[in-house]
Amino acid sequence: MNRLDGKVALISGAARGIGAETAHKMAAAGASVVIGDVLVDRARETAKEITDAGGKGVALALDVTTEASWAAAAAGATKQFGKLDILVNNAGIFLGKDLMDATMEEWGRLVAINMTGVWLGTKMCAPALAESGKSSPHGSAIVNLASIAGLVGSQLDPLYSMTKGGVTLFTKSTALSFGRMGWKIRVNSIHPGVIETDMGAQTFASRARQTGSNDVEAARGVAMKQHPIGRLGVAEDIALGIVFLASDDAGFMTGSGMVIDGGLTAQ
Ligand SMILES: NC(=O)c1ccc[n+]([C@@H]2O[C@H](COP(=O)([O-])OP(=O)(O)OC[C@H]3O[C@@H](n4cnc5c(N)ncnc54)[C@H](O)[C@@H]3O)[C@@H](O)[C@H]2O)c1
Repeated sequence: MNRLDGKVALISGAARGIGAETAHKMAAAGASVVIGDVLVDRARETAKEITDAGGKGVALALDVTTEASWAAAAAGATKQFGKLDILVNNAGIFLGKDLMDATMEEWGRLVAINMTGVWLGTKMCAPALAESGKSSPHGSAIVNLASIAGLVGSQLDPLYSMTKGGVTLFTKSTALSFGRMGWKIRVNSIHPGVIETDMGAQTFASRARQTGSNDVEAARGVAMKQHPIGRLGVAEDIALGIVFLASDDAGFMTGSGMVIDGGLTAQ
């Protein structure tokens, strides 16, 4: 189950957090993994951990906001491993500001990474994915990191929510578009609850500031209580879902969203 033997995956923002854990899990499942990030040294460390564990992983510089960087990453992946079967559009940033407080500069950066980055990754990797999809019974796969904030509203972060809502519907639209063109590329999204990564820590700090308590640990406690399952998520919870969606076990899934949120949006 959930094996990726012989497959080649490119993961954006995989130097740390959910992306890095996904790289580890994919390599353990038999994939060759390309780790793209602006944090190049950290990306190299993640790649080294994978190769030290006997897997196949390389790091390359990727800034998801530019077409040229994506073109180089897609070319780098196919040059290194001969093809591309899986794209994980994982790179993302959090804002942690109300719509009344955000600046145009902050909005521009948020959109560039969370939305433009997903579109450009899809556009620049689609030709290689379509090519490899021809020789795979269940095609190739794109997994986009959306969020529960792309499914339900977010009182304290409407702009982040807007970008993730965009990713949710871009995923469905891309699945339809590729289907219409006859390209065998499945496209699905993942919707995590609050996950304990650097970004998770940033959300607690923002919430503490936004609610005026400045008590980060209390904000973490509030976030935990919002998850009926009784804990916050960890990167592994999400990485396992991404591996499934990328694998042939999800061969009949496209245009879907997988919610991994400890029950948060069940309420
Ligand atoms: N942590 C959470 O609670 C949570 C919840 C829902 C969704 N998500 C989503 O999951 C994804 C991963 O989040 P995470 O928690 O691992 O965050 P993280 O901050 O720990 O990691 C994000 C990675 O993206 C990279 N990145 C940022 N800008 C980039 C750029 N321009 N080009 C390339 N890489 C860039 C960062 O360097 C970092 O390595 C994001 O899309 C995020 O929005 C996270």
